[in-house]
Amino acid sequence: FGVSTPPQLPFSAIAPVANTVDRFTVPTGYAWKPIIRWGDPLFSSAPAFDFDNQTAQAQVQQFGYNCDYLDIIADNGGKTGVLVNNHEYVNPNIMFEPTTDAAELERRGEIYKMAQGFAVVEIERKRKRTPWSYVVDGRRNRRLTVESEFAMTGPAAGSDLLKTDADPTGRLVKGTLGNCAGGTTPWGTILSGEENFNGYFAWAADTDGQKRYQSSASTSTSTGWPAYDERFNAHNPDYVNEPNRFGWIVEIDPEDPTSTPRKHTAMGRMKHEGANVIVGEDGRVVAYMGDDERNDYLYKFVSKNRFLPGSSKKTRAKNMTLLEEGDLYVAKFTGDSPAAEITGTGAMPADGAFDGSGEWLPLTQNGVSVVSGMTTEEVLVYTRLAADKVGATMMDRPEDVEPNPKTGKVYVALTNNSRRGSTSTVDEANPITGNRYGHVVELTETAGQSGTTFGWSILLLCGDPESVDYAYFAGFPKDQVSPISCPDNVAFDSKGNLWISTDGAPSTIGRNDGLFLVPLEGSERGHVQQFLSVPVDAETCGPVIHDQEGMVFVAVQHPGEDGTVAAPTSYFPDFGSADPGDFGSGPRPSVVQVYRD
Ligand code: FEO
Ligand code: CA
Ligand code: CA
Ligand code: CA
Repeated sequence: FGVSTPPQLPFSAIAPVANTVDRFTVPTGYAWKPIIRWGDPLFSSAPAFDFDNQTAQAQVQQFGYNCDYLDIIADNGGKTGVLVNNHEYVNPNIMFEPTTDAAELERRGEIYKMAQGFAVVEIERKRKRTPWSYVVDGRRNRRLTVESEFAMTGPAAGSDLLKTDADPTGRLVKGTLGNCAGGTTPWGTILSGEENFNGYFAWAADTDGQKRYQSSASTSTSTGWPAYDERFNAHNPDYVNEPNRFGWIVEIDPEDPTSTPRKHTAMGRMKHEGANVIVGEDGRVVAYMGDDERNDYLYKFVSKNRFLPGSSKKTRAKNMTLLEEGDLYVAKFTGDSPAAEITGTGAMPADGAFDGSGEWLPLTQNGVSVVSGMTTEEVLVYTRLAADKVGATMMDRPEDVEPNPKTGKVYVALTNNSRRGSTSTVDEANPITGNRYGHVVELTETAGQSGTTFGWSILLLCGDPESVDYAYFAGFPKDQVSPISCPDNVAFDSKGNLWISTDGAPSTIGRNDGLFLVPLEGSERGHVQQFLSVPVDAETCGPVIHDQEGMVFVAVQHPGEDGTVAAPTSYFPDFGSADPGDFGSGPRPSVVQVYRD
């Protein structure tokens, strides 16, 4: 193992697993088990999971569907803690048999509302370094759903652009949608990005602002809500602004189950993948954020006020307001090689690197719009339009963006972009035509974490090195790395190594998605090694690396999503052991812990 591999999490890379295999695979010497599965009751008042008798009343008290962002936060002492998780969306095709009955579709629609959102669940164990169990009726247990109340904060709260018939204040929104990746703040709250919110509405956007988030008219949704719930029908004049109330970064306090979760308008509105916060040298906090769309942008938010160290109630309450005021920036990347050397094939430019410099272009300063022709409210609600105007660089679908807590360098997962080279031109930061396998950019702030200049270089050009000539692993020998495709979520271990989880390997390199270690320093830099593989059709989410305890946690999202109830493709995580042949034993999106055997 290399010098920077975490010593308490030693492993030999697993062999890649074919995309037809319904198995959760971990390295030799490790074992795995779920902590909690879709439908597991959080409260003793909830029924046990019963696939054949799903109800909204049961689901709101049970763990939700399609777990994505994950953190495992141990309390002092390490024997109790909380698991926090968001539930991005539902897969109706594997939750129910097909039907066209309107009443039944409405009943199911209400179940879908309760299956999305958030879960906070207490966890416990007898000793440190051993697997966790979740606690029914834990003090902090909570579910947030598409019907829970959220408060808007920041300059656009109360804007006319956010008002609807049901909320003439523009300050109180029902629910959260499409919660994808996220981050845990230095003050212990959870951030989550509202990503593909547009897909929940029937709408034909008619203003330029709305069109930038919904390029074509939509009449059907997978959840069916517009058919019976008027707020999801944005053709209804009373609810034309309802879509504007989604696409935000939300903040949740897992310590207080009675707290009102918030949506922060100062951080802009987009298909937010997530947000990750670091405290800068000057004490202001900086959040890095990706807008996950082909040819969209990379952003950062810098708070107005400074982080207060300490954990008293008063200090924490002050820190919890940091994301309500500050300035929003969007990234412009400039390459340092001649444009003629960027051919779209991935061929390395003559200077030996895809690299260059960059600028954070302000959209707001001192909390006020600096974009000509747009008010502050317009910049924050229609952030994509503002970024278009200032000349930001179109990127290959920015997913998770995280600062390395050890170095402050920022890692940007660019998952893929079928439109690169057609509706956008190749450039040194996005150098592959039709970018199928994605890449990872390493960004170094050159004027401090909250400054406006940076340097950057491409760390990884993903792909199977056996078949993709240009695949690049920071110069590490290509015959020694695991094949990797479509980087999505990133995390760091206590040594500052990068960990990447993927979403898209099955359709691009014919392998199940997985989790990969990437050392960043020394001779091992770029040595991509696969740690685990998720079952058929699943995406690897979450990752949480507790290397000092020899433990890794992932959220296994949409296992078996290409199946049906009649013909399932996956039985994860129980694999039929409870009730062989019964779909009720799987697939169930679940949070899994991996530990040394
Ligand atoms: Fe929900 Fe961008 O992944
Ligand atoms: Ca270069
Ligand atoms: Ca994601
Ligand atoms: Ca993704």
